[in-house]
Amino acid sequence: MSRSGKFGSTILRFDTLESTNDYARNLAASGEDEGTVVIARRQTRGRGQHGRSWISPAGHGLYFSVILRPQVRAEGFGVLTLGAAVAVAESIAAFVHLKPDIKWPNDVLISGKKVCGILVESAIESGIVRYAILGIGVNVGQTIFPEEIAGTATSLTIESGVETRTEDFLPGLLDSLELWYRRSLNEPAGVLARWQELSSYARGCAVRVFGPDGEIEGVTEGLTDQGALIVRTITGERREIFSGEVSLRKL
Ligand code: BTN
Repeated sequence: MSRSGKFGSTILRFDTLESTNDYARNLAASGEDEGTVVIARRQTRGRGQHGRSWISPAGHGLYFSVILRPQVRAEGFGVLTLGAAVAVAESIAAFVHLKPDIKWPNDVLISGKKVCGILVESAIESGIVRYAILGIGVNVGQTIFPEEIAGTATSLTIESGVETRTEDFLPGLLDSLELWYRRSLNEPAGVLARWQELSSYARGCAVRVFGPDGEIEGVTEGLTDQGALIVRTITGERREIFSGEVSLRKL
Protein backbone atom coordinates (compact mmCIF):
# COMPACT_ATOMS: atom_id res chain seq x y z
CA MET A 1 0.00 0.00 0.00
CA SER A 2 1.65 3.28 -1.10
CA ARG A 3 0.27 6.40 0.59
CA SER A 4 1.56 9.93 0.88
CA GLY A 5 0.03 10.92 4.24
CA LYS A 6 1.35 10.47 7.74
CA PHE A 7 -1.44 8.14 8.86
CA GLY A 8 -0.30 4.61 8.10
CA SER A 9 3.30 5.51 7.22
CA THR A 10 3.98 2.89 9.90
CA ILE A 11 1.46 0.05 10.11
CA LEU A 12 1.96 -2.62 12.77
CA ARG A 13 -0.05 -5.71 11.88
CA PHE A 14 -0.96 -8.46 14.32
CA ASP A 15 -2.94 -11.63 14.02
CA THR A 16 -4.37 -11.36 17.55
CA LEU A 17 -4.38 -8.58 20.12
CA GLU A 18 -6.52 -8.07 23.17
CA SER A 19 -7.35 -4.56 21.94
CA THR A 20 -5.60 -2.43 19.31
CA ASN A 21 -6.44 0.64 21.43
CA ASP A 22 -4.58 -0.77 24.42
CA TYR A 23 -1.56 -1.72 22.32
CA ALA A 24 -1.47 1.69 20.62
CA ARG A 25 -1.84 3.49 23.95
CA ASN A 26 1.24 1.71 25.34
CA LEU A 27 3.18 2.67 22.21
CA ALA A 28 2.02 6.28 22.42
CA ALA A 29 3.01 6.46 26.08
CA SER A 30 6.51 5.32 25.05
CA GLY A 31 6.80 8.08 22.43
CA GLU A 32 5.62 6.41 19.19
CA ASP A 33 4.98 8.88 16.37
CA GLU A 34 1.65 10.35 15.38
CA GLY A 35 0.03 8.44 12.54
CA THR A 36 1.27 4.98 13.49
CA VAL A 37 -1.50 2.43 12.91
CA VAL A 38 -1.99 -0.76 14.93
CA ILE A 39 -4.21 -3.31 13.23
CA ALA A 40 -5.28 -6.80 14.29
CA ARG A 41 -7.05 -9.55 12.41
CA ARG A 42 -8.93 -10.33 15.61
CA GLN A 43 -9.24 -8.91 19.12
CA THR A 44 -9.88 -10.98 22.21
CA ARG A 45 -10.97 -8.01 24.38
CA GLY A 46 -12.09 -5.42 21.86
CA ARG A 47 -13.58 -2.46 23.68
CA GLY A 48 -16.54 -0.30 22.73
CA GLN A 49 -18.14 2.83 24.15
CA HIS A 50 -19.82 2.91 27.55
CA GLY A 51 -17.72 -0.02 28.82
CA ARG A 52 -19.16 -2.45 26.30
CA SER A 53 -17.17 -5.01 24.38
CA TRP A 54 -16.63 -4.93 20.62
CA ILE A 55 -17.02 -8.43 19.22
CA SER A 56 -13.94 -8.88 17.01
CA PRO A 57 -13.60 -12.32 15.39
CA ALA A 58 -11.12 -12.91 12.57
CA GLY A 59 -12.52 -12.67 9.10
CA HIS A 60 -14.36 -9.71 7.74
CA GLY A 61 -14.09 -6.98 10.35
CA LEU A 62 -11.53 -4.17 10.32
CA TYR A 63 -10.06 -3.38 13.75
CA PHE A 64 -7.40 -0.71 14.09
CA SER A 65 -6.15 2.25 16.11
CA VAL A 66 -4.26 5.37 15.10
CA ILE A 67 -1.95 7.32 17.41
CA LEU A 68 -2.74 11.05 17.44
CA ARG A 69 -0.80 13.90 19.01
CA PRO A 70 -3.21 16.79 18.52
CA GLN A 71 -1.79 19.17 21.20
CA VAL A 72 -5.22 20.77 21.58
CA ARG A 73 -6.92 21.86 24.76
CA ALA A 74 -9.21 19.16 26.16
CA GLU A 75 -12.24 21.21 25.00
CA GLY A 76 -11.19 20.59 21.37
CA PHE A 77 -11.45 16.86 21.82
CA GLY A 78 -15.17 16.66 20.98
CA VAL A 79 -14.61 17.95 17.46
CA LEU A 80 -11.87 15.35 16.87
CA THR A 81 -14.29 12.53 17.62
CA LEU A 82 -16.98 14.01 15.34
CA GLY A 83 -14.37 14.49 12.60
CA ALA A 84 -13.50 10.81 12.75
CA ALA A 85 -17.14 9.88 12.09
CA VAL A 86 -17.30 12.29 9.15
CA ALA A 87 -14.12 10.69 7.76
CA VAL A 88 -15.58 7.20 8.01
CA ALA A 89 -18.91 8.24 6.49
CA GLU A 90 -17.17 10.02 3.60
CA SER A 91 -14.89 7.08 2.86
CA ILE A 92 -17.81 4.62 2.89
CA ALA A 93 -19.74 6.89 0.51
CA ALA A 94 -16.75 6.99 -1.85
CA PHE A 95 -16.02 3.26 -1.59
CA VAL A 96 -19.45 1.65 -1.94
CA HIS A 97 -21.58 4.61 -3.07
CA LEU A 98 -23.93 4.48 -0.10
CA LYS A 99 -24.99 7.38 2.08
CA PRO A 100 -24.24 6.63 5.73
CA ASP A 101 -25.89 8.39 8.64
CA ILE A 102 -24.12 9.42 11.88
CA LYS A 103 -25.62 9.00 15.32
CA TRP A 104 -24.15 11.44 17.83
CA PRO A 105 -21.33 11.47 18.50
CA ASN A 106 -19.71 9.01 16.16
CA ASP A 107 -21.66 5.84 15.35
CA VAL A 108 -21.80 5.37 11.59
CA LEU A 109 -25.03 3.75 10.42
CA ILE A 110 -26.43 2.46 7.16
CA SER A 111 -30.16 1.70 6.95
CA GLY A 112 -30.36 2.51 10.67
CA LYS A 113 -27.88 -0.23 11.60
CA LYS A 114 -24.34 0.20 12.87
CA VAL A 115 -21.55 -0.33 10.36
CA CYS A 116 -18.74 1.35 12.31
CA GLY A 117 -17.95 2.17 15.91
CA ILE A 118 -15.32 4.66 17.03
CA LEU A 119 -13.64 4.82 20.43
CA VAL A 120 -11.34 7.80 20.99
CA GLU A 121 -9.34 7.73 24.21
CA SER A 122 -7.02 10.47 25.37
CA ALA A 123 -4.22 11.24 27.79
CA ILE A 124 -4.74 14.75 29.12
CA GLU A 125 -2.13 16.65 31.13
CA SER A 126 -2.67 20.17 32.45
CA GLY A 127 -5.72 20.58 30.23
CA ILE A 128 -3.87 19.63 27.00
CA VAL A 129 -4.43 16.41 25.02
CA ARG A 130 -0.92 14.86 25.03
CA TYR A 131 -1.96 11.98 22.84
CA ALA A 132 -5.14 10.29 21.76
CA ILE A 133 -5.92 6.85 20.41
CA LEU A 134 -8.45 6.72 17.62
CA GLY A 135 -9.90 3.20 17.61
CA ILE A 136 -12.08 2.14 14.73
CA GLY A 137 -14.07 -1.02 14.12
CA VAL A 138 -15.71 -1.34 10.71
CA ASN A 139 -17.99 -4.15 9.64
CA VAL A 140 -16.68 -4.68 6.14
CA GLY A 141 -17.32 -8.12 4.71
CA GLN A 142 -19.58 -9.87 7.23
CA THR A 143 -22.69 -11.54 5.91
CA ILE A 144 -23.89 -12.79 9.30
CA PHE A 145 -23.45 -11.48 12.85
CA PRO A 146 -23.58 -13.09 16.29
CA GLU A 147 -27.11 -13.25 17.65
CA GLU A 148 -26.62 -10.47 20.23
CA ILE A 149 -25.90 -7.84 17.55
CA ALA A 150 -27.69 -9.35 14.55
CA GLY A 151 -30.60 -6.89 14.85
CA THR A 152 -28.46 -3.77 15.15
CA ALA A 153 -25.34 -4.39 13.02
CA THR A 154 -24.75 -4.36 9.31
CA SER A 155 -21.74 -4.47 6.96
CA LEU A 156 -20.54 -2.87 3.75
CA THR A 157 -21.03 -6.17 1.93
CA ILE A 158 -24.61 -6.58 3.16
CA GLU A 159 -25.57 -3.00 2.31
CA SER A 160 -23.82 -2.73 -1.05
CA GLY A 161 -24.55 -6.27 -2.20
CA VAL A 162 -20.92 -6.45 -3.34
CA GLU A 163 -18.24 -8.49 -1.60
CA THR A 164 -15.92 -5.97 0.05
CA ARG A 165 -12.56 -6.63 1.70
CA THR A 166 -10.87 -4.92 4.63
CA GLU A 167 -7.57 -4.40 2.79
CA ASP A 168 -9.29 -2.63 -0.10
CA PHE A 169 -11.17 -0.27 2.20
CA LEU A 170 -8.30 0.66 4.58
CA PRO A 171 -6.12 2.96 2.38
CA GLY A 172 -8.96 5.32 1.45
CA LEU A 173 -10.19 5.32 5.04
CA LEU A 174 -6.75 6.31 6.38
CA ASP A 175 -6.54 9.18 3.87
CA SER A 176 -9.99 10.38 4.86
CA LEU A 177 -9.20 10.12 8.60
CA GLU A 178 -6.05 12.19 8.14
CA LEU A 179 -7.85 14.84 6.09
CA TRP A 180 -10.65 15.26 8.64
CA TYR A 181 -8.23 15.12 11.56
CA ARG A 182 -6.30 18.08 10.10
CA ARG A 183 -9.58 19.92 9.52
CA SER A 184 -10.65 19.22 13.12
CA LEU A 185 -7.48 21.01 14.25
CA ASN A 186 -7.45 23.84 11.68
CA GLU A 187 -11.07 24.54 10.79
CA PRO A 188 -13.32 22.91 13.39
CA ALA A 189 -16.37 24.88 12.21
CA GLY A 190 -16.14 23.08 8.84
CA VAL A 191 -16.14 19.71 10.60
CA LEU A 192 -19.18 20.63 12.68
CA ALA A 193 -20.99 21.84 9.55
CA ARG A 194 -20.21 18.65 7.62
CA TRP A 195 -21.23 16.45 10.55
CA GLN A 196 -24.59 18.22 10.68
CA GLU A 197 -25.10 17.78 6.93
CA LEU A 198 -24.44 14.05 7.18
CA SER A 199 -26.38 13.27 10.37
CA SER A 200 -30.14 12.87 10.49
CA TYR A 201 -29.78 13.19 14.28
CA ALA A 202 -28.46 16.76 14.14
CA ARG A 203 -31.67 18.79 14.10
CA GLY A 204 -35.35 18.20 14.68
CA CYS A 205 -34.81 14.62 15.78
CA ALA A 206 -36.81 13.27 18.72
CA VAL A 207 -34.30 11.57 21.01
CA ARG A 208 -33.81 10.03 24.40
CA VAL A 209 -30.37 10.50 25.97
CA PHE A 210 -28.94 8.35 28.75
CA GLY A 211 -26.15 10.45 30.22
CA PRO A 212 -24.23 10.97 33.46
CA ASP A 213 -27.16 13.06 34.78
CA GLY A 214 -29.77 10.42 33.99
CA GLU A 215 -32.24 10.24 31.15
CA ILE A 216 -33.62 13.18 29.18
CA GLU A 217 -36.09 13.34 26.32
CA GLY A 218 -36.29 16.08 23.73
CA VAL A 219 -35.63 17.26 20.21
CA THR A 220 -32.16 18.00 18.79
CA GLU A 221 -31.14 21.55 17.82
CA GLY A 222 -27.65 21.09 16.34
CA LEU A 223 -24.18 21.19 17.87
CA THR A 224 -22.28 23.65 20.04
CA ASP A 225 -18.83 24.91 18.97
CA GLN A 226 -17.31 22.09 21.02
CA GLY A 227 -19.42 19.39 19.41
CA ALA A 228 -21.91 18.90 22.24
CA LEU A 229 -25.41 17.92 21.08
CA ILE A 230 -28.06 20.53 21.86
CA VAL A 231 -31.37 19.05 23.00
CA ARG A 232 -34.54 21.02 23.76
CA THR A 233 -36.23 18.95 26.43
CA ILE A 234 -39.94 18.29 26.46
CA THR A 235 -40.21 20.85 29.28
CA GLY A 236 -38.56 23.51 27.06
CA GLU A 237 -35.10 23.50 28.66
CA ARG A 238 -31.99 23.80 26.44
CA ARG A 239 -29.45 21.13 27.36
CA GLU A 240 -25.94 20.54 26.00
CA ILE A 241 -25.00 16.87 25.90
CA PHE A 242 -21.26 16.19 26.24
CA SER A 243 -21.49 12.46 26.82
CA GLY A 244 -24.19 9.86 26.80
CA GLU A 245 -26.02 7.45 24.61
CA VAL A 246 -28.59 8.79 22.17
CA SER A 247 -31.53 6.77 20.85
CA LEU A 248 -34.48 7.65 18.68
CA ARG A 249 -37.76 8.37 20.45
CA LYS A 250 -41.02 7.48 18.82
CA LEU A 251 -43.45 10.43 18.79
C1 BTN B 1 -18.32 1.59 19.85
O1 BTN B 1 -18.74 1.05 20.87
O2 BTN B 1 -19.11 2.00 19.00
C2 BTN B 1 -16.86 1.76 19.61
C3 BTN B 1 -16.22 0.51 19.09
C4 BTN B 1 -14.74 0.68 18.80
C5 BTN B 1 -14.12 -0.64 18.39
C6 BTN B 1 -12.71 -0.47 17.93
S1 BTN B 1 -12.08 -1.94 17.18
C7 BTN B 1 -10.48 -1.27 17.19
C8 BTN B 1 -10.31 -0.52 18.51
N1 BTN B 1 -9.85 -1.40 19.56
C9 BTN B 1 -10.75 -1.56 20.51
O3 BTN B 1 -10.61 -2.27 21.53
N2 BTN B 1 -11.84 -0.83 20.23
C10 BTN B 1 -11.69 -0.09 19.00
